[in-house]
Amino acid sequence: AGKLPLRGKKVLITAGPTYEAIDPVRFIGNHSSGKMGFAIAETAASLGASVVLVCGPTHLKLTHKSVERIDVTSAEEMFQVVKSQYPDTDIAIAAAAVADYRPSAVADQKIKKQAASLQINLEPTPDILKYMGEHKQNQFLVGFALETENEIENAKGKLSRKNLDLIVLNSLNDTGAGFKTETNKVTFITREGEILPQELKPKEAVAQDLFQLIQQKRYA
Ligand code: C5P
Repeated sequence: AGKLPLRGKKVLITAGPTYEAIDPVRFIGNHSSGKMGFAIAETAASLGASVVLVCGPTHLKLTHKSVERIDVTSAEEMFQVVKSQYPDTDIAIAAAAVADYRPSAVADQKIKKQAASLQINLEPTPDILKYMGEHKQNQFLVGFALETENEIENAKGKLSRKNLDLIVLNSLNDTGAGFKTETNKVTFITREGEILPQELKPKEAVAQDLFQLIQQKRYA
């Protein structure tokens, strides 16, 4: 393997938020910056992988030229791209903060201000990670979990329900971790039940640790 241990491997990564349209000018979104997913993409490329990064709306730019970037807006668009990219993927990493709900109908025209209250009906978006778990052939599948209570238990439940090989738990309770920060503090939980808490470190270093663990688990 040497310096390029992931040469010949295809790594598929989702990153960033998704925006779910309410009308032509408004959407439901979240505060994900995409930084963790971009760091994972850059790291995978530096390890020699062929990388496809499917990302929701973000201002981030890639420095690594060899990453194929596919921009999407909504969960449905991200799902369609993932479905077509997944079959020949070797390692799939879902770092996107996909909206769980979307408006059940998108208004054709900008919704006018009304005196009374306004109701927007929501329906669930496709669970992209669950789909990947259900259609897993030989892929090594990694999910993220952001929990605020019973963190380890909830993350373990997600790992088994979604048929993952590894889950990366990040806590909102830790300063310097989570959305928009340059650093992250994570715990890796493996399919085999290992619980591996990590130090607070730059997202690039978290990405390095992640691939080291993936290589140990899959390509050792
Ligand atoms: O179940 P929960 O949404 O907390 O799981 C988080 C993980 O699932 C993340 O890896 C996220 O990228 C992924 N996910 C997804 N599609 C969704 C919701 C979450 O791929 N609709």
